[in-house]
Amino acid sequence: MGSRIHVYKGTTITVTWDAAMCIHAAECVRGLPKVFDTSRKPWVDANAASATAIMGVIERCPSGALKYQFGNGAKSERPAKTNTITVTTDGPLHVRGELEIVRGSDGSVVAKDTRAALCRCGQSANKPFCDRSHAKTGFSELGVVTGPADVKPAAEPAGGSGLRITLRPNGPLRLDGEMQIFDGGGRLAWQGPETALCRCGASKNKPFCDGSHREAGFVAE
Ligand code: FES
Repeated sequence: MGSRIHVYKGTTITVTWDAAMCIHAAECVRGLPKVFDTSRKPWVDANAASATAIMGVIERCPSGALKYQFGNGAKSERPAKTNTITVTTDGPLHVRGELEIVRGSDGSVVAKDTRAALCRCGQSANKPFCDRSHAKTGFSELGVVTGPADVKPAAEPAGGSGLRITLRPNGPLRLDGEMQIFDGGGRLAWQGPETALCRCGASKNKPFCDGSHREAGFVAE
């Protein structure tokens, strides 16, 4: 699936929207309905609120489909200080931080971003990103994080910089970098410097990979 980026220029701030990446989380329409109104064309009015308010709402967009920029390039979104992964109920992994997503086959970069919604049902046509196929296929998973037996849930935030996400061919997402994993209820459930998360939908130890992708015949770049 290609990128379809729409640009909405305001006096102070310019909003961009990548339709191919949008998973309709609706943070924007709930947060600033005068700016983001899907009943209107164009649906984004970048002059209908302060730049600060627009920035705040855009940074809540989990997929990274919405972004902002200023004419003078003075301000741009900074990555979250802590890399986080939220395992959403029946849905994707919401990942935040200084993200670099690379192909495991050749190390080439798929994306560098601050936010991404990554498929964990195995059905997206836009892998590694979510395209809401989980809703069509009835993917049902509470977002419980039990974790490997040798890793205890931690209470203190982890520090660290970037998070490298490697797409293992026909296998999991390999994550390297200090990170925190939150369950579907928003509870900090795991933290550490490396792990492998299921993206085939078949693991019996979600969100972690347990090798079930082989039995399931999972095929992905
Ligand atoms: S990717 Fe799903 S079990 Fe490994």
